[in-house]
Amino acid sequence: MRTYRFGIIGCGLMGREFASAAARWGHLSIDVARPEIIAVCDVNPDNTAWFSRNVPGLRHVFSDYHDLLALSEVDAVYIAVPHNLHERIYVDAINAGKHLMGEKPFGMDQEQSQAILAALDRNPGVFARCSSEFPYYPAMQLLIRWIREERFGRILEIKAGFCHSSDMDVNKPINWKRKVAVNGEYGCMGDLGIHTQHVPFRMGFLPRNVYARLDKFITVRPDGKGGQAACDTWDNATLVCETAGPDNLPFTMYLETKRMAPGCTDNFYFEIYGLKASAKFTSANPGLFTYTVDWGKEQAWAGLNVGYKPM
Ligand SMILES: NC(=O)c1ccc[n+]([C@@H]2O[C@H](COP(=O)([O-])OP(=O)(O)OC[C@H]3O[C@@H](n4cnc5c(N)ncnc54)[C@H](O)[C@@H]3O)[C@@H](O)[C@H]2O)c1
Repeated sequence: MRTYRFGIIGCGLMGREFASAAARWGHLSIDVARPEIIAVCDVNPDNTAWFSRNVPGLRHVFSDYHDLLALSEVDAVYIAVPHNLHERIYVDAINAGKHLMGEKPFGMDQEQSQAILAALDRNPGVFARCSSEFPYYPAMQLLIRWIREERFGRILEIKAGFCHSSDMDVNKPINWKRKVAVNGEYGCMGDLGIHTQHVPFRMGFLPRNVYARLDKFITVRPDGKGGQAACDTWDNATLVCETAGPDNLPFTMYLETKRMAPGCTDNFYFEIYGLKASAKFTSANPGLFTYTVDWGKEQAWAGLNVGYKPM
């Protein structure tokens, strides 16, 4: 099994998630390349300290990401920093010839996104990816298989969403993800959007046009230091798009990203409705694949408990 030596830039919530996932690699029974974390970088030494305690093979700890990118022994980087740094650090990593597992979004706006894509064009040997974890639930994998096998017949509608309720607490102190300057103007759409788009876009359901309904409910939040700060990103967004399947026949796709969705905690869902069959998945009930059974004129919903399937 091939090993890729990784450096992590940004040792906050997601940096720790990446290291925790890499630590479980031995659980996989399939032969896939293994990540070995040998270097980390963060401007905050409290955050790199966690890696020194918990990552046995760690050889290098930096506070300046240029030092990590200069290490020839690093094959690939995982970068999980605030959004306003993505363009600069992703472009530097690609130019340094490091394979890139980047966090969403690939740039805070179209110009930044194009700068990252241009760097990739100039460095065709670099493999770059961004991912959402939700499609990898076994029940969601089954739904994806049904799409690939075209079991839904003519598609009538797709709905995908990612909904939170943590911002319902209006006294929750602000963080960088609620500020345009650091998060980007798109607010919840850029931050949560990939979770809704990952499956439809990979399946080829690309938007031909977009209508948007955007909401900004809470415009001021506690700054965590006794004062108030402007909360200027979009809280909720519903996008309605025209798209088409392999038969090129148009249908409607709804993409919903919400930070103020009562009752939802990190809730990813995907629903597909077709003439032959329909199916649903929600991370609120992650083992369950729900699909319709045709009873002639009527359709009954059936549930298959797919549960946990080791790879
Ligand atoms: N895929 C997912 O489900 C998911 C979930 C949450 C966040 N994210 C993404 O992950 C990224 C990071 O989010 P997070 O929640 O881990 O944020 P975080 O605030 O917990 O961590 C960011 C880290 O970057 C560090 N940092 C800031 N400037 C730096 C610099 N110049 N060099 C090195 N390190 C620097 C900070 O000190 C901090 O430790 C964002 O792009 C976010 O959208 C993805």
